[in-house]
Amino acid sequence: MNAVIGQPISRVDGPAKVTGQAIYAAEFNLRNMAYAALVHSTIARGRIERLDATSAEQAPGVLAVISHLNAEHLPYKSLEKRPPVDPKAGEQLHVFQGPEILFVGQPVAVVVAETAEQAREAAALVQVVYYEAAAATELQQNGAQPPTVASAKAGRSGGSRGDAATAFTEAPVKVDMWCSHEREHHNAMELHATIAEWDGDHLTLYDKSQWVDNVRSEIAHIFGMPEENIRVVSPFVGGAFGSALRTWPHVTIAALAARWVGRAVRLELTRRELYVSIGYRPRTEQHMQLGANPDGRLLAIMQDAVAPTSVYEEYAERTTDAVLRTYSCPNVRARYRLAQMNVNTPCPMRAPGLVTGAMAIEMAMDELAAALGMDPIELRLRNYAERDEAKEVPWSSKELRACYRAAADRFGWSRRSSQPRSMREGRLMVGYGMATAFYPAERAPASVQAIFYANDTAVVRTASSDMGPGTYTAMTQLAADMLGLPIERVHFELGDTDMPKAPVHGGSMTLASVGTAVVDACKALMAKLPAGEAAETHGARLRRAGFESLTASGHSEPGDEAKQYSSAGFGAVFAEVRVDPDFGIVRVPRIVGAYDVGRVINPKIARSQCIGGMVGGIGMALMEQAEWDVRLGRVMNANLAEYLVPVNADVTDLDVTFVPSSDEIFNPLGAKGLAEIALCGVAPAIANAVYHATGKRVRNLPIMPEKLLIH
Ligand code: MOS
Repeated sequence: MNAVIGQPISRVDGPAKVTGQAIYAAEFNLRNMAYAALVHSTIARGRIERLDATSAEQAPGVLAVISHLNAEHLPYKSLEKRPPVDPKAGEQLHVFQGPEILFVGQPVAVVVAETAEQAREAAALVQVVYYEAAAATELQQNGAQPPTVASAKAGRSGGSRGDAATAFTEAPVKVDMWCSHEREHHNAMELHATIAEWDGDHLTLYDKSQWVDNVRSEIAHIFGMPEENIRVVSPFVGGAFGSALRTWPHVTIAALAARWVGRAVRLELTRRELYVSIGYRPRTEQHMQLGANPDGRLLAIMQDAVAPTSVYEEYAERTTDAVLRTYSCPNVRARYRLAQMNVNTPCPMRAPGLVTGAMAIEMAMDELAAALGMDPIELRLRNYAERDEAKEVPWSSKELRACYRAAADRFGWSRRSSQPRSMREGRLMVGYGMATAFYPAERAPASVQAIFYANDTAVVRTASSDMGPGTYTAMTQLAADMLGLPIERVHFELGDTDMPKAPVHGGSMTLASVGTAVVDACKALMAKLPAGEAAETHGARLRRAGFESLTASGHSEPGDEAKQYSSAGFGAVFAEVRVDPDFGIVRVPRIVGAYDVGRVINPKIARSQCIGGMVGGIGMALMEQAEWDVRLGRVMNANLAEYLVPVNADVTDLDVTFVPSSDEIFNPLGAKGLAEIALCGVAPAIANAVYHATGKRVRNLPIMPEKLLIH
């Protein structure tokens, strides 16, 4: 046993992906399929006065134009229990149910035609006249805000301990700063797409999804139909980072259109449409205040964060978590409010809230280290949180000290001279910066079915997802070890509501949740196997007992440990930057990260996760931003030519280490989950390195060249 766990196995789904045999949502080729294209609102607030579809209806190939004028009434029954990926307050966008416009890009009509090109051509012919009202489009700088709502309903409005305001006032050393990051979009390679097909009152959806069970349940409620009449299929996801957690309006539209024309309908969004049809990481403004003793001990931490949400839903993220839980401090007050704006609802994007909070606390800690004249690692060690002070419980495991040590050694932190602007390489300014990474570990109930066949192969299945982190591979490894089979003989299946229920493929929970259920199912299967000779294969035993196959179920769910302990992944991230003094261009020649993520099931795909996070962090620090036009309430660079993401030339040396760790309090596998922590801390480490190189604090990410040139 344990021959395959811990081995750097290549992705089991790799060959299917590189040979084009992995089928993504838009690629299912159904018989007699029609194609849909959306028409979007061009105003941010108001209502449709007149919608004229005459020319569109007469265009070649057009089968239907559906809008609020002719769409069927949809019941939009509310779910008894909202799924954790949906906002806790408000109502999802009701498509084509009325003339009211709430944001630029709201779908106002869908055209269905024989080909995708005909649908798009005709969509441009739909004429809409609007009554336009004044819209809330601006999240103002430095505290002057439009009317805000507390995110209390989401339970994410913040927290406190001690008396932070008094402690800050009395603190001998202070940092008081504003910081922000711009709105970011997931921009996964695969576009979002849904194919809908009705068979009588049964609906099948081929969808890009991180949670097929939730798509089924939401569509059932929207259409007022039984869940068992819906099947959702999503075997491969070409990147999502959170964008496919929710059931977005276009899924409903695809189902609506397919019912209207009585054919399968494919609705694939364009790159530009992704900027208004799915969520995004919201721009967030934060006021940070730290108070400390001259020896570096924190006396007070205060955070005031504000982010936009839509006017129809309160999307709140865990923006205060990192501030409340990363460091030991007796007096903390973290506050998070939402500003309702005429935008589509934001959504989780890789470490939602944690990345944003980490940016604030890690940039503020760097400023505090500078104010104290103290090494940034030393400052963090002096405020090391031995327990989770926000929840007042011990950590189930924490090897963060080992992370600081390992990363600092590999990086060569001791070569850093403490003064800013003191290191050079030719004409380039050199800077070293670091930050802590923190991401809570969670798990949720999961069920798995395992089947053993007499030909000595096994199939293990659950309605989970693999948006890229390697779920197929890690689960195959776990099952192969438990069943004592080579990995080639184990087939892991996922992404189908016909399979046992799995939790959302998000929040870095899949390994700890589904993985423990895979182990449970395989154990149950082994227990059912008829006893046999030592040399016999399982298959031979089955055949002798007269079975073709044997099936077992497994289930796992968190126990009481979540009440007695706090579980989290930890890491230390170090970045080197080279800054061109004349052009303000920042390059990142290397990043070193050391992580405590519990037991690592597959170091090769785990490293890939971390590299992906580091690349995302370079984007957040230096490039990624939706250019927002406040007059129009729209993103001006809704394409991959103008919305910059790091490319190969921007990424040089990325070094990843996992410190020895296994958290068997958190779950029997010992794995804490690895995905989102890889993005945490990267952007502030780079920003802190830019300060060290230049002596300039750029507190608004991304650090574009002009921010370093104009001071
Ligand atoms: Mo992740 S933002 O939970 O997909």
